Amino acid sequence: MATTMSRIKLVAGNWKMHGSLASNLALLTAVTSGAKAFDGQFAVCVPYPYLAQAQAVLAGSKVAWGAQDVSEHALGAYTGEVSASMLNDFGCRYAIVGHSERRSFYGDTDAVVAAKFSAALKVGLTPILCVGETLDEREAGITTAVVVRQMDAVLAAAGVAALGQAVVAYEPVWAIGTGKTATPAQAQDVHAIIRARVARDDKAVAERLQILYGGSVKSTNARELFGQPDIDGGLIGGASLVAEDFLGICAAAGGQR
Ligand code: PGA
Repeated sequence: MATTMSRIKLVAGNWKMHGSLASNLALLTAVTSGAKAFDGQFAVCVPYPYLAQAQAVLAGSKVAWGAQDVSEHALGAYTGEVSASMLNDFGCRYAIVGHSERRSFYGDTDAVVAAKFSAALKVGLTPILCVGETLDEREAGITTAVVVRQMDAVLAAAGVAALGQAVVAYEPVWAIGTGKTATPAQAQDVHAIIRARVARDDKAVAERLQILYGGSVKSTNARELFGQPDIDGGLIGGASLVAEDFLGICAAAGGQR
């Protein structure tokens, strides 16, 4: 479903398990000063221990920050977990939920992802809900079924109004960290399916929803991807670790459509 409504583009970095205090300082400083030149919304999702540093460097700037996961529980005996209210204490705006690495390496099921989504929303964080199919699933012709199932789990648990406070990221698993980007047409097809699924429950929420593409986005392919009618920015892994590369993608976000 292509729309005529203007949605601001969002470029969010996902540092994954990379960084050090020293290297982060250089990267955050370069990103925040470079981003001043561009229109759009920008964010970096850093490892938990570096949230305080991100807050210190980025506060008052154009670049928001967030975490890469969040517990589905509010508090309690959950060794090693981090709650949404703790993320709030460090000024986070975003929490990624359902990244394919969490789903595949740490057993985050659709139900757990939906619970994490709700936990983030409950304290006012904006969840970035990741969905996407594996290569086997794409080759089996079940991309739509998989992505719709992942969306359904959150819609059933949280309700469509909750999507109005969230961001969705379509990340085909076969494109993550592989250098194989979905073509703009492939990505647009799935983005339109996601938007249509949300529109089935609420057209206005679907029209406003930012749907990011993730999977080997680079400054060289970002502009064409972001030019698709239902692609509202990107979730950037590898290229978010190099200021020049990340800023090249921020530049491609341009302004409002
Ligand atoms: P990539 O990662 O840009 O390195 O492919 C994207 C992601 O996993 O969010």
